[in-house]
Amino acid sequence: MERERWATRIGLILAMAGNAVGLGNFLRFPVQAAENGGGAFMIPYIIAFLIIGIPLMWIEWAIGRYGGAHGHGTTPAIFNLLWRNRLSKVVGVFGLWIPLVVIIYYIYIESWTLGFAVKFLLGLVPGTPADGSDPNTYLQPFKEFLTSYVGKGDELITPSPFAYVVFTITVLINVFILSRGVSRGIEAFAKVAMPTLFLLAVVLVVRVFLIDTGTGSALEGLNFLWKPDLSKLTDPGVWIAASGQIFFTLSLGFGAIITYASYIKKDQDITLSGLTASSLNETAEVVLGGSLAIPAAVAFFGVANAVAIAQSGAFSLGFISLPAIFANMPAGTFLGFLWFFLLFFAGLTSSLALMQPLIAFFEDEFGLSRKNAVYMTAGIVFFSAHLVIFLNRSLDEMDFWAGTIGVVFFGLLEMVIFMWIFGGNRAWEEINRGGIIRVPRFYYYVMRYITPVFLLVLLGAWGKEYIPKVLSETHWTVWVTRFYLVGLFLFLTLLVFIAEKRKTREVSCE
Ligand code: TRP
Repeated sequence: MERERWATRIGLILAMAGNAVGLGNFLRFPVQAAENGGGAFMIPYIIAFLIIGIPLMWIEWAIGRYGGAHGHGTTPAIFNLLWRNRLSKVVGVFGLWIPLVVIIYYIYIESWTLGFAVKFLLGLVPGTPADGSDPNTYLQPFKEFLTSYVGKGDELITPSPFAYVVFTITVLINVFILSRGVSRGIEAFAKVAMPTLFLLAVVLVVRVFLIDTGTGSALEGLNFLWKPDLSKLTDPGVWIAASGQIFFTLSLGFGAIITYASYIKKDQDITLSGLTASSLNETAEVVLGGSLAIPAAVAFFGVANAVAIAQSGAFSLGFISLPAIFANMPAGTFLGFLWFFLLFFAGLTSSLALMQPLIAFFEDEFGLSRKNAVYMTAGIVFFSAHLVIFLNRSLDEMDFWAGTIGVVFFGLLEMVIFMWIFGGNRAWEEINRGGIIRVPRFYYYVMRYITPVFLLVLLGAWGKEYIPKVLSETHWTVWVTRFYLVGLFLFLTLLVFIAEKRKTREVSCE
């Protein structure tokens, strides 16, 4: 069966940018930057972009294009092409497991952004308190608004029925786009969604910079973010956070870029296209993402309070503070709508990318039709997401194992398999084949030595610091999640071996 291809170069770049630009750019980046001291964060962040982000990006594009040329879009099969060893298939299962686990919680958060967009559009949001001087009284109504939406509970959570309905609709929207296929679905949507997203973000940034509270301004927020603080550079925690953000925002180590790249034509450029897509993501992140939540929060509440808000939970800044701030402005509910609609588009183009690996796996390795592959994948995601929706702590546990530590581990594996086992020279040629620009030779050494060592150190430091902490969490809800995650891994491994059996049978029947 012929595999699909991206129809145009601009479509490919926008789809890849859509893959990378997501909730992480507008929600996770500002929180990470604020928690890690603003100016202290940006230097490690930029270094991590240069020595982890860019090289790993090229490697994933190259691995994916290579796999696609051989009829495979996911890592169990592609790793086996690069490394003729049975172990490669099991290792490759991580490239299915990670995006699957991440989509299970990512799509639920994405659905909140749609739900909030609808509520703001209809004006069904709290009013603003008369006196805004104390952040707490000011934010309280919006805190309650979020809690009543997602529900709360120490063990079992009961979300609002509205949240559940919107979640279902979000899954269906994803199914609708994905079932139209790679170029007619994902690519066509990215061509509309990405320009819209940039436009929305620019409008909001302009509005944030016009904020004048009399006591503070958005510029102070920018100053906080961009004034270098060299004293913190010796803190390993800041480096770990910055590298983690680079992985997350560029979607690296998830297997998702590899799958998208498998739809690139055999000799089409990847060097310039990969660089362009990454640069679009960084623009969306540091220029736009960095100019919204933090500057607005600083303008209203001052640096110290903004940092405290960022530290009070991953969703406070985006789902509580920013809507509260917008609500206080003229046409505030409409601004709130724009903000959540922006997030929804950012989330949607990313969730498509997170679903695609499993879909590609069912198509390539089981010969399922595209529609059936999409329904199977969406069914598994929909079912699994109930864990996140109804069980407290489940989301964080999944985010840690798959979205935080798993990706660094997998990124390291990709590099070793490609640059060492497949072979440095072959890999280098593969990356540059058809390239509009040639990658500077310097990056050959970065890819072979510097990045792997950096990742190894990172994994060690990280593991030492966080794994014991996470494992010391023994609440039953966490254990349920862990068993489920292991179950998913075994399930996927089983599928990989069934697929292999099927293929050998097919071949011997011919
Ligand atoms: N990069 C996305 C963001 O910034 C999130 C993400 C991480 C992702 N890994 C992914 C999206 C893999 C698609 C595929 O929000």
